[in-house]
Amino acid sequence: MKIKIESKESGKAIAHALFFVKKSIQFSSVLSEKATEQAETVLNGMEEGPFEDLEFLELDGVPTFFVNAAKERGLTSLDHLRMAAYRLAKRAKKKQISCVSLMLADAAPEQLKSIIHGLYYAEYEFDRYKTKKQKSFSVVYEIVVQDQAKEFSKIANDVAIEQASISMARDWINTPGSDLTPSVFVSEAEKIAKETGLKIKVRDIKALQKEGYNGLVTVGKGSQSLPYMVTLEYKPAKASKDLHLALVGKGLTFDTGGISLKPASTMWEMCCDMSGAAAVLGAIRTIALLKLPIHVSAVLCLAENRIGSKAVLPGDIFTAKNGKTVMVDNTDAEGRLALSDGLAEAGLLKATHIIDLATLTGAMVRALGYAVTGFFSNDEKLASKILEAGQTCCEKFWPMPLEEEYADGLKGKFADLQNIGSDAGAISAALFLKEFVPENTSWSHWDIAGTAFVTKPWKYTSHGATGIGVQTLVELARQLGE
Ligand code: BES
Ligand code: ZN
Ligand code: ZN
Repeated sequence: MKIKIESKESGKAIAHALFFVKKSIQFSSVLSEKATEQAETVLNGMEEGPFEDLEFLELDGVPTFFVNAAKERGLTSLDHLRMAAYRLAKRAKKKQISCVSLMLADAAPEQLKSIIHGLYYAEYEFDRYKTKKQKSFSVVYEIVVQDQAKEFSKIANDVAIEQASISMARDWINTPGSDLTPSVFVSEAEKIAKETGLKIKVRDIKALQKEGYNGLVTVGKGSQSLPYMVTLEYKPAKASKDLHLALVGKGLTFDTGGISLKPASTMWEMCCDMSGAAAVLGAIRTIALLKLPIHVSAVLCLAENRIGSKAVLPGDIFTAKNGKTVMVDNTDAEGRLALSDGLAEAGLLKATHIIDLATLTGAMVRALGYAVTGFFSNDEKLASKILEAGQTCCEKFWPMPLEEEYADGLKGKFADLQNIGSDAGAISAALFLKEFVPENTSWSHWDIAGTAFVTKPWKYTSHGATGIGVQTLVELARQLGE
């Protein structure tokens, strides 16, 4: 695929694309007066009711895609524009149309951004393991604007960078557990560091043990693929000295549940249990390549949760990095143990703001499903920024309470804490994390267990990883850096 921003039509386009909502054409039209009349007749002749996409029609001799961008269900109009662009791209590929012209002169920048995102989503394919790869047809999209060519080209470039990060994150997540182990993930992070010039620090199990990062050690010691912590730093000269954003990601490259073994039927999906780390790595890559003026660190907590003779036993007690003792009453509640070290690390880095992303609880999947990410925060200002950033990026968030009443359930019998509470699973997990959040730090926890991985096609995502979180993190970094 190629996207060209032009200030006038090159004449190379084989087809035009026409976005419509209900019966009206959106954006200033690429069509001749005659074709516009024809299009209006077609749209007026449409039956009321669900607006299906119209097929490919000839208008005044020019092949034209009719793309329905009408709003339905709970999505925003920006999200519908993405979906419309996604459908357009899928159809253009299928019909092997080599160049499609979109006239977007009167589009708002965020509309253009949405359309370009939609075009990119149609490109994503995870076919590494297929012997017969579908030959993908490459389409050139000529986006015709007027005097905004410079501004719109910048948007197109930025989206290209961001979408590349999203695709990388989705690839890492979709890769089976035996192929993306903690050490393989470390080399992926090293590649990103090299590409972007980010500073990187890798701790192996020896370093983790020596420095007392016992959460990660406890979770990861039962596997042949041992745990790692990766810390990346982006510190541009123009960044404010008073703000340091740390992004912490749960990176369980596979979660069998450990000795508290998971049921077999859906266990395979647990290759997605490193989606938090993938999003964080994708986000810091984007932030660095876009040169956003903000100091950002990323901490990836990488481990594999396995059964085996070296695996942690239910009832085992360890001392966390911040000195608190924890009894592991359920080895399947491992994410919070791994994150306790990530949060401690963010504190040592003197982060002023911490955001952790984790596929943390099945309870969150049951509460909010696959379309909405539940998030917690100890800072209302940060929470409202997250909601706003999410909206801009077509990623839905819903605030959850850090309900102190349930904190008692985490008190340990023999240790300070135990790793599962007695009430409200997603809230208990967040309250557990709160025990490890450094003092005087703005913090938010995003439980992406439901939204990171879908088992059926959804919006512009085929089955599998969605890449959730990357866009909202980047947008948040953009806003915090202003
Ligand atoms: N990785 C799982 C959570 C999960 C569930 C992610 C579904 C994606 C989809 C997590 O480590 C886990 O197993 N949590 C347990 C916690 C329980 C033992 C307190 C859960 O939610 O069942
Ligand atoms: Zn688990
Ligand atoms: Zn897990």
